[in-house]
Amino acid sequence: MDIETFVHGLPKTDLHMHLEGSIEPELMMTLARRNCVPLRWDTADALRAAYRFEDLQSFLDLYFEGCRVLVTQADFHDVTRAYLHRAHADGVVHAEMFIGPQSFTERGVPIKALMNGVLDAITDAQAAHGISASLLISVHRHRSEADAIAILDQIMPWRDQVVGVGMGGAERGNPPSRFANFYRMARERGFRTCVHAGEEGPAAYVREAVEVLAVDRIDHGNACLDDPDLVADLADSRIPLTVCPLSNLRLKVVTDLKQHPLKAMMAAGLHVTINSDDPPYFGGYVTENLLACREALDLSVEDLIDLVRNGIEAAFLAPDERLRLLTDLTHYVARQGYAEPHTLPSVLPG
Ligand code: ADE
Ligand code: ZN
Repeated sequence: MDIETFVHGLPKTDLHMHLEGSIEPELMMTLARRNCVPLRWDTADALRAAYRFEDLQSFLDLYFEGCRVLVTQADFHDVTRAYLHRAHADGVVHAEMFIGPQSFTERGVPIKALMNGVLDAITDAQAAHGISASLLISVHRHRSEADAIAILDQIMPWRDQVVGVGMGGAERGNPPSRFANFYRMARERGFRTCVHAGEEGPAAYVREAVEVLAVDRIDHGNACLDDPDLVADLADSRIPLTVCPLSNLRLKVVTDLKQHPLKAMMAAGLHVTINSDDPPYFGGYVTENLLACREALDLSVEDLIDLVRNGIEAAFLAPDERLRLLTDLTHYVARQGYAEPHTLPSVLPG
């Protein structure tokens, strides 16, 4: 078995992806036509060619522009179904998907259309493909904390179908501590919590995420390596980091994948997982992220299995579900001739 087939077949998670960032250009064109939303591009190829970014903000400008094509409950259903279908084909067995309602409610889209469209598609994909998926509601850090709390109130009718809350958007100048009340309220209401930190922002933002927001997971977290004490704390507490290597490359967080901090993070004992973020914008789903890192950073097969196991361990899943996925991973590895993942050779037999 070649390495591509092996990685494709690993039962993987995708714990950091944005539904708004998962719209493939062909679907974007279809939705734009359906809703009579004008786009600056005439074809899917022209749109794909525009996916060249200088930094996070240049990406966010295009990403928010793309959000305009999502209007009706059917649109949210179609986008979620398309991502889960594609993720299943990629060998993902469990996905945790962000959506940021503020991009839609500000244009008058009812939150009910968004929630029902996404949640129905999750149920349908589970029935059709056996893939499990959970919903994370994210808020924008470049807006006010009061706006974030308003979203928290609006999602309460779906409290039991939303696993957690997160925060994305323009990081620099918007430290996590600005949202301390929002995160405290989210925790009090029983939501799991995560926050984008240390993508473009400094290590101090990752520290605030841990010490002020007390989040369960950090999204990205790359910059933590600049603060050795923080790295030690993260390693001790095993707070997972949802790393997105192809995103980091395309947004110029790193200039070359060979310079990506993933390997240093693993060597420091951090609980790192590999995720897709916004796959069509950044050129890859989870398998492509893993294979690109293997190539650039010379990861061993054992490293790849560790990363996939970390993803299952970091998922916001009930213990029995987590155990089922860990058992599936062990069986898959054993079926390929590796009974003991920790003694794997770095080269696969043919
Ligand atoms: N929203 C979607 N992708 C994001 C990213 N990489 N960083 C911050 N916010 C985002
Ligand atoms: Zn993200």
